[in-house]
Amino acid sequence: MFFRKKIKWHKLFESLVAANNQIAEGRVTNILINNKKVCVAHTAEGFFAVQDKCPHNGASLGNGFCTKEGSVVCPVHRYSFDLKTGRATSGGGDAARTYPIEIREDGVFIGFEETVWF
Ligand code: FES
Repeated sequence: MFFRKKIKWHKLFESLVAANNQIAEGRVTNILINNKKVCVAHTAEGFFAVQDKCPHNGASLGNGFCTKEGSVVCPVHRYSFDLKTGRATSGGGDAARTYPIEIREDGVFIGFEETVWF
């Protein structure tokens, strides 16, 4: 039996306009999609998604804030994580999982990696 990794895409917003209306630039929020809670950030470079559960002690990163340098800051102990790589930029050494975001004509999508057996 073999397996491979594959990205399954889920629609986050109906359009880029809807995404901009829901998350203003410089803000973060959490969104439950496909039974997974993710933190979505809107920076000057666009939209980014990381796991919502803080790697340090489980607080919601979506209740934190993002910096001009492109990190999300946890609201509890203020550890921060790079939105592109997930690496800790302050605080502990644990990393946050990142998820790809694609802006298409028919909406804004987030990708979750899946294992497919065949
Ligand atoms: S729970 Fe996020 S930094 Fe401690």
